[in-house]
Amino acid sequence: MIQNWKEKYAKIMKDFEGYSIGKIFKYLGNPEIISLAGGLPSPDMFLKSEMRKASHKLLENDLENIFQYSPVPGEDDFIAAILKFLQRDGIKLEPENILITSSGQHGLDLTGRLFLDPEDYIMIDRPTFAGAIVAFQMQHPQIIGVDMEADGSNVDGYRAKLAKLPVKPKFIYVVPDFQNPSGITTSLEKREALLDLSYEMDIPLVEDSPYRDLRYRGEAIPSLFSLDQQREGTNVIGLYTFSKIFSPGIRVGFNIGPPDVITKMGNIKGGNTLNTPKYNQDMCRIFLTEMNYDSHMEKCRKYYSKKLDTFLEAMSEYFPPETGVSWTKPEGGLFLWVSLPKKIDTLKLFQKAIEYKVAFVPGEVFYGENPENNHLRINFSYVSAEQLVEAVKRLSKCVKEDLREQ
Ligand SMILES: Cc1ncc(COP(=O)(O)O)c(C=O)c1O
Repeated sequence: MIQNWKEKYAKIMKDFEGYSIGKIFKYLGNPEIISLAGGLPSPDMFLKSEMRKASHKLLENDLENIFQYSPVPGEDDFIAAILKFLQRDGIKLEPENILITSSGQHGLDLTGRLFLDPEDYIMIDRPTFAGAIVAFQMQHPQIIGVDMEADGSNVDGYRAKLAKLPVKPKFIYVVPDFQNPSGITTSLEKREALLDLSYEMDIPLVEDSPYRDLRYRGEAIPSLFSLDQQREGTNVIGLYTFSKIFSPGIRVGFNIGPPDVITKMGNIKGGNTLNTPKYNQDMCRIFLTEMNYDSHMEKCRKYYSKKLDTFLEAMSEYFPPETGVSWTKPEGGLFLWVSLPKKIDTLKLFQKAIEYKVAFVPGEVFYGENPENNHLRINFSYVSAEQLVEAVKRLSKCVKEDLREQ
């Protein structure tokens, strides 16, 4: 009988602890807790009757194909719909530039598997999406972070840290639009500068874009991918998901990039998940082509923008300047970033917040190395406007008590 499974594990998996955010969800079973911790889109924005109708039609007309295996790269008609969808955003591609994935997280996993050997370097923003960190950590890279600025990735900071690395990083990973967790959007100037750096140093850029169409104010800024195309480059790999604009439960996304990269990612997909379920792809195709995308997105933007305003107003009311608390003011997306006085450790504060029946994600999970401990991530899209205000009230009491105790 095997006594010690641990000694059987792969070396690179021995210390792997999985998704750090997942661990805090065990505290959230109590329905009295207002959770600003998840990254959930609101079910109010699900296209319920359209989804039922589309689902019924698919099951009536195509059941035998839906429940079969299907091609690993994705369904042709879905890929064609995505090509049109991307054209609206200034991106011109061919089918060989696209791989359908089973979610954004899967797209990140394929990226890590394709590029990283153990000990390879990658560069990321500080903070950045915890799910990307955990996906890349499966390959055991050395992660170099560069502190974000109010207008996005700190390109000079990247240059300075790059100069000190013994070898080039395999890629730089960024979320230029309404970044998770900070809500920060990278300016056009910095996007161009990131591309300059990428060309100069021959380093691929991985652009993760789940929130791009969720802009509530200000002008859209061209994606890195489209800017790269304008400059006739092929340095950017784009990661997309339907999770935040259609449904996270459907688990569908897509990666775009040079045909070589996409073919290779497809080969890896063949060895990890095989095909993305055809039913799920069909639902997303119908979402793009028959569910009035523009009016749906307009509705989402209005709905989330109102929640963001409610949250920001409550923050101004309950955290006056003398509290030393500051927060980002995103132009879109689902998250914002709150910075507390340095003496507050938000991991400890989290335990107290649970007693106050409010939850957030402690900021330290959003760093690949040397975490800062005095920040927290807020998701404003899921709970009601009334709950958002109540949550801020509870948070302010909890922070004040923590400060008094110090
Ligand atoms: C920046 C970023 N990338 C990728 C994902 C993963 O999305 P999915 O639910 O499709 O796996 C998320 C989800 O929160 C995200 O914020």
